[in-house]
Amino acid sequence: MSKRQAPAELRHFLDIDQLSKTELRHIVDSAHAIKKAGRRPPGAYRPRALAGAVLALIFEKPSMRTRVSFDLAVRELGGEAIFLSSEEIQVGRRETVADTARVLSRYADALLLRTVSHDTLLELAEHATVPVINGLTNRSHPCQIMADLMTVEEQLGPIEKRKVAWIGDANNVATSWIHAAVRLGFELRIGCPQELAPAPELVRWVKKYKGAVEVLTDPAEAVRGADCIVTDTWVSIGDSDRERRTRLLKPYRVDGAMMRKAARNAIFLHCLPAHRGSEVTAEVIDGPQSVVFDEAENRLHAQKAVLAWCLRAAE
Ligand code: CP
Ligand code: NVA
Repeated sequence: MSKRQAPAELRHFLDIDQLSKTELRHIVDSAHAIKKAGRRPPGAYRPRALAGAVLALIFEKPSMRTRVSFDLAVRELGGEAIFLSSEEIQVGRRETVADTARVLSRYADALLLRTVSHDTLLELAEHATVPVINGLTNRSHPCQIMADLMTVEEQLGPIEKRKVAWIGDANNVATSWIHAAVRLGFELRIGCPQELAPAPELVRWVKKYKGAVEVLTDPAEAVRGADCIVTDTWVSIGDSDRERRTRLLKPYRVDGAMMRKAARNAIFLHCLPAHRGSEVTAEVIDGPQSVVFDEAENRLHAQKAVLAWCLRAAE
């Protein structure tokens, strides 16, 4: 793999709002093709597509799915991963974020960062000379949504024809859903308490691009007729106000009664980890409408597609 690209040519995967509709569609379609081809040779999707590539995985916060899916994704495409925990690397503390970016760019072909500060991610990308991937920040979780889009499409066909309802905290995962809805042009309803609604600048961005995203406080209204119901934890990494959130979000628990208000064959998505009895009942997440384990598996296929795009491996 070539280790350096001109900054203008670098393909960072920082947020879905930074991608064009064509790029986004290309990555989702690649993810479908990768899954269809199977995981291992013979017949797997371009098994040497990332031959020799090194991905540095930097995690300041815990992770299971993101870490394992990216580690396997790069290895199954012929490359390798190096895991760096916050204790080892201390991004922005032991040395500047810029120096970390410059040094790691000399070793690795791509960097993935999970951090509670979106600004740290942007700083890393500004100074890196290899592609940087957002592995979750306080603002967004775009890698998750690539797997989610894929999951909706394999169950229900093209997302553009579907109505999605996000119920609960309009958090980092919801933000990436909003970006995807606007870029791909599908209908998204956010059912959330006023206090945990999408940030005003995000709502302005939706308006600017004439997105079909509606923010409602009534969860029943938000799920009515939806083809897909999505929720997430009430307390995200970095949130400290557990009690307040629990109080505000109780009416937004996804249970059987809420699922019955959606379309008849609606599916249920959750990025996991889940908390049965809080944001979702066991009846729903372990029931027939839930596709959360397909969704988790799809992280692997989608992450291969993200890596292939960032590293121009399919060109
Ligand atoms: N959904 C998700 O990103 O899971 P992890 O926090 O385990 O990576
Ligand atoms: N919103 C959650 C997602 C975890 C994958 C968090 O940020 O903790």
